[in-house]
Amino acid sequence: MAKVCWVTGGAGFIGCAISAGLADHFHRVVAIDNLHPQIHAGRRRPGALDQRVDLVVADVTEPDIWPELLRNGGPDVVVHLAAETGTGQSLTEASRHAIVNVVGTTRMLDAFASAQHVPRRFVLTSSRAVYGEGAWKSEATGEVVYPGQRSKEQLAQARWDFPGLAPLPMHAAATIPHPTSIYGATKLTQEQVLCAWALSVGSATNVLRLQNVYGPGQSLTNSYTGIVSLFARLAKEGKSIPVYEDGDIARDFVFIDDIAAAIVRATELDLPSAALDVGTGQGTTIHDLAKAIAKFYGAPDPEINGFYRNGDVRHAVADISRTQQALGWSPQYDIAQGVARLSRWIDGELG
Ligand SMILES: NC(=O)c1ccc[n+]([C@@H]2O[C@H](COP(=O)([O-])OP(=O)(O)OC[C@H]3O[C@@H](n4cnc5c(N)ncnc54)[C@H](O)[C@@H]3O)[C@@H](O)[C@H]2O)c1
Repeated sequence: MAKVCWVTGGAGFIGCAISAGLADHFHRVVAIDNLHPQIHAGRRRPGALDQRVDLVVADVTEPDIWPELLRNGGPDVVVHLAAETGTGQSLTEASRHAIVNVVGTTRMLDAFASAQHVPRRFVLTSSRAVYGEGAWKSEATGEVVYPGQRSKEQLAQARWDFPGLAPLPMHAAATIPHPTSIYGATKLTQEQVLCAWALSVGSATNVLRLQNVYGPGQSLTNSYTGIVSLFARLAKEGKSIPVYEDGDIARDFVFIDDIAAAIVRATELDLPSAALDVGTGQGTTIHDLAKAIAKFYGAPDPEINGFYRNGDVRHAVADISRTQQALGWSPQYDIAQGVARLSRWIDGELG
């Protein structure tokens, strides 16, 4: 049995979901989290964080926290979750995202270097945001093309799609990253920084590029993330869900328990360093998601409003074949099962 696991950002949505699985596997699990007020309204230890986990309230960007944490020995495995995660927000708060996601990572690495401690493995939760619009295929010639970022002008003219092109699933071994948000760019840099350091000191890094995660425990007060929770809240209040663009934006919505299982597996296995895509492999349009949630709550039909967000991509679905093989893992929840679980949790939280 492995010994010590550190989880930066371990009190967040995903951190809480993996806490019991990690505590079953490791002698000691330490969550390092600053209880960011945008996520933790009361700034208290979350009830969903397994009691066996030690929570250290600290900011990963502060150099002084690390020597103290390393005083009693370092971790065997680090699950690096701490991040600023607002895709839209990152375009107006670029430095905030860069400092936490990039400098927060380098501070940790500097501390390991100066303590001469090399964790055996890092598991980094990266994001499908690193791909941006990803790769598309010409319907006429079959050629694979990268259409790049949709321009402000294109979106203002409601030209949502790339005519003549069909989207391809995102695959770490094939799709070249082209982030369209500061968030995506900082997550790609975070991957590169961590992999470069880890490889040079003989540690392994498993980068998990997560698609859109949803489920019980996702912040209901953070308006910058969690579209499924947001839609469910609106429908529960009897409101019509607003749907952006023409409703045909597609996402790969993956349930939190499936994500937790994949991350815990990555900490347990002796995998070679590689990036893996974690999703369901199935795309759902935002309109279909909104209709399913509205139906579930008996809310009015969703309203397609033609609004858009700069930096949003049109289509994101993972190819999970390599991940399934590497982790011996498969997603268990489809969107209907996941929404039912989420809504029961929201009923409990909001009454
Ligand atoms: N939820 C998703 O859909 C999704 C998708 C792709 C990738 N990810 C990645 O997964 C990771 C975790 O995401 P989440 O959904 O649990 O987000 P979350 O916001 O719920 O959790 C992040 C945690 O990090 C903490 N944190 C933020 N800044 C910190 C700092 N400076 N020092 C210490 N702790 C800090 C927060 O307090 C929070 O508890 C992130 O790295 C994110 O980029 C999430």
